[in-house]
Formats: sequence, C-alpha cells, structure tokens
Amino acid sequence: MTTSTRTPTDPAVAPLFRPFSLGTLDLPNRVVMAPMTRRFSPDGVPGPDVAAYYARRAAGGVGLIVTEGTYVDHPSAGEYANVPRFHGEEALLGWKGVVEAVHAAGGRIMPQLWHVGPVRKPGAPPFPDAPVFTPSGLGPDGTPIGAAGPVPTARDIGAVITAFAEGAATAQRLGFDGVELHGAHGYLIDSFLWEGTNRRTDAYGGDPVARTRLAAEIIAAVREATSPDFPVVLRISQWKGSDYTARIAQSPAELESVLTPLVEAGVDAIHASTRRYWLPEFDGSPLNLAGWVKKLTGLPVISVGSVGLDEVFTASFTGGEAHPTGLDQLLERLGGDEFDLIAVGRALLTDPEWTEKIRTGRAGEVVTFTREDFGRLT
Ligand SMILES: Cc1cc2nc3c(=O)[nH]c(=O)nc-3n(C[C@H](O)[C@H](O)[C@H](O)COP(=O)(O)O)c2cc1C
Repeated sequence: MTTSTRTPTDPAVAPLFRPFSLGTLDLPNRVVMAPMTRRFSPDGVPGPDVAAYYARRAAGGVGLIVTEGTYVDHPSAGEYANVPRFHGEEALLGWKGVVEAVHAAGGRIMPQLWHVGPVRKPGAPPFPDAPVFTPSGLGPDGTPIGAAGPVPTARDIGAVITAFAEGAATAQRLGFDGVELHGAHGYLIDSFLWEGTNRRTDAYGGDPVARTRLAAEIIAAVREATSPDFPVVLRISQWKGSDYTARIAQSPAELESVLTPLVEAGVDAIHASTRRYWLPEFDGSPLNLAGWVKKLTGLPVISVGSVGLDEVFTASFTGGEAHPTGLDQLLERLGGDEFDLIAVGRALLTDPEWTEKIRTGRAGEVVTFTREDFGRLT
C-alpha cells in the first residue's frame, strides 16, 4: 500500500500497526477483515464486483481479508443460490479474479470454507433435493427436524471431510494466502462440537473431546491436501445463531480439552468469534475467548466483536442501531498481546478505508455503520 509509506502512523494506535507473521504469511498490521456473507454472487459465482469489493478493503490497508463464507463442494453445504460457491469452473474463475484483485491492491486473502449443516432449511437452494446434514437429526436449536433425513454415517461424514480438503487444495491452487474453516456459530463443524446438536453415540459424539473428531479430521485432511506452510485457520465460537448463551466449553480445562485435538491435527491459528471482544470468557480472569485460546495453545489467535461500535452485530438484524466507540480497550489488549490479530466486521463493511483512517489518526472521518449498510455491502 503506497499511502502507508507516505503518512506516519498515529502513535496512539501503534499496537494495531505492528507487523505479524502467521506462519510464513507476513502481515503488515493486526487488522483482519471478518468474514461477512453478502449474497451478491448470482448462481454462486463471484463476479468482478465482488473482486472490487475486497480490493477496496485491501487498498484501504486491511492486513488480511477473510472472505464471506463460501460453500464447499457438498450438496447439503449451502442454503442460498447467491452465496458464492467454492467449486465449479465458473465460480473458481471468479475467485481467481478476487485473489488477483486483492493482491494487485497489496492485500492478502483467505476464503472462509463453509458448510451450513443443521442451519439449512429442507428444500433450500442451491440443491433443494439434498438432505439437511446434521449430526443427530436435530435442527440448529437442538430440536428434532422431521425432514432432516437419515443421521449421517461415517461414510457420509467422509464426503464432507473430502469437500473441505478439496476446497483447501483449491484455495492454494488459486493463489489464496491461506484458508479459514468455518467452525463457529452453529454451522456444520460447530454442530458436531456442541452437545445441543450432537447426540451421537459413535466415534463422532460423546464427551467434548469425542465431539472434536469431525473438526480434527477436517483439519488433518486439509493439512494433507495443502503444503505444510499453507496457513490453516479454524474459526470457533461458544455462541450459536440459535442461542447466544450456548457453550462448547464451560471452563478453561474443558476448552483446553477441546483445543488439544485440533492443535494436534495441525491447525495453525484459531479465530475465536465473540460478539463483544472486551467480555471475559470465564470468571476470575479478564481474558476473552481468544485470550484463553492463546494462553492454552500458544497458537496465533484472532479476536473479534464490535470493534469501534457499541452494539453487537446480531442486534442489527432485529433493528438495533450501533454507534461509534473508541478503540482504547482494543489497543490495551492488543498492546498486552492478549491476542494477536483483531477481526473487524461492520466497521469495514461501511468504510473500506477504516484501517487507513485509524492508522493516520483520522478516526473522526470514519463512516458510521447503519442498518441500511446490510443492503449496500459494496
Ligand atoms: C452481514 C454479516 C454477515 C456475516 N457473515 C458471516 C460469515 O459468513 N461467516 C462468519 O464466520 N461470520 C459472519 N458474520 C460475523 C462476522 O464475521 C463478525 O464476527 C461479526 O460481524 C462481529 O464483528 P463486528 O462486530 O466487527 O461486525 C457476519 C456478520 C455480518 C454483519
């Protein structure tokens, strides 16, 4: 980015603008664009407008972009026809255009590979005949769904693992700088991690460690399908779209037991999704979820949740307004290395130049997020 060499960094925000190495991937600063679904890819094909959207954020100085969730090559993976797919010649050509545009603007980018699992409604596009793929025949809130189809066998699960591995190999072939696996918010990988949706009695269910088996096997398969230095990030969360109080780990010890198999499987970094980055995860310590993950694994971690805003993103869906807030807490926590990177969602959605404005002490010029921005998303 040319502007960074021209204008000095505001010393007050220095912690955000220290370089960071995610394995072999060198990042110029700590700002990550959070994955945000847009539904602007007709028939699952991301066009030049999608490339321009991401390139604008790269040109605006964001250190790393994680794309909107993109469906892996499995018939039950998706629920919208205009969410980008990560398979098929035309869609992949579109993604190649996205990578090239972001790199040309000086940025770095990873796709977020996604299988929606139980969140899909029976009969939803893009493949209406495909059954809902859910660990135990339960919907996202843990109640039975009649049309869920048969409970997946180990062989069915194998097909999903292959879909993620192929997606990761494709990401590397297209020139992406790494890959993020969507293991959060109640979607497929998370639905195996959470006892509310996973009641299986085979090797993929049971105690918290047994429930990590799918995630661990996906990570191992992705590792195998890509070169050892290709960064593999896993996004996890305690909360689900259907229940903000849900938890996959009730205590630091339980969190450690969930994370250990994932680390052993070869994940390089964890993106710990919370809706408010400043909230302590467990009693007796100010650490947030990302802070705990870093402490327990030693891996690089990404934190997230309402950066620069006073209202959580999920409130925006039900009419809540968010107002700008300062970054003091963030700078303090980042400066203290509680976590390594911070993902920014809505603030970057509304203002592609958010990063550069913050870097150069122009926070007052940041364009504020409004609900209408969900309709624009350009
Ligand atoms: C419009 C929108 C779409 C989102 N889509 C995704 C997604 O595809 N994958 C994902 O992991 N999180 C998704 N999220 C959550 C964001 O990645 C992020 O965690 C959340 O917005 C909190 O960050 P913020 O408060 O800075 O906006 C989405 C959020 C928004 C606002």
